[in-house]
Amino acid sequence: MTESGQDGTDRETFFHAVGGEAVFRKLVHRFYQGVAGDELLRPMYPEEDLGPAEERLTLFLMQYWGGPRTYSEQRGHPRLRMRHVPFTVDRAAHDAWLRHMKVAVDELDLEPQARQQLWDYLVYAAASMVNSA
Ligand code: HEM
Repeated sequence: MTESGQDGTDRETFFHAVGGEAVFRKLVHRFYQGVAGDELLRPMYPEEDLGPAEERLTLFLMQYWGGPRTYSEQRGHPRLRMRHVPFTVDRAAHDAWLRHMKVAVDELDLEPQARQQLWDYLVYAAASMVNSA
């Protein structure tokens, strides 16, 4: 049997197991601090303010791991590969993205199994976003 938390989401999800929204906000905030100082990645972001991009990635990851479905309410079906087509995601961009993500994941101090699960997904997802040699 699954139980629902106050926000109506399933309490047995990875999202709740690792600490809910605060943990995903911390992860993505730290990630974007890295992006902000990255000479390759920063110019790829169309907006001057990285805040809205930070919000979109946070909401997506929360939804992916079983949290609130706010991302799809606001943005529709993720179709992430398609949404990345306007950007040149080559090997260098992939490596830089994952490098900043690794710093952010490590700072969460998750249980080793949860950390591995999150990291494996990010590695897989980043590889699937590459659209340029
Ligand atoms: C592999 C290297 C990657 C690069 C260089 C990259 C770059 C970008 C850029 C430039 C944007 C536009 C910023 C914005 O307006 O939101 C974006 C959006 C986004 N990216 Fe990535 N990305 C990468 C991988 C990933 C991965 C692995 C995920 C998911 C796990 C992801 C999830 C998203 C999401 C959710 C958005 C916002 C989509 C929307 O609703 O419009 N990205 N990415």
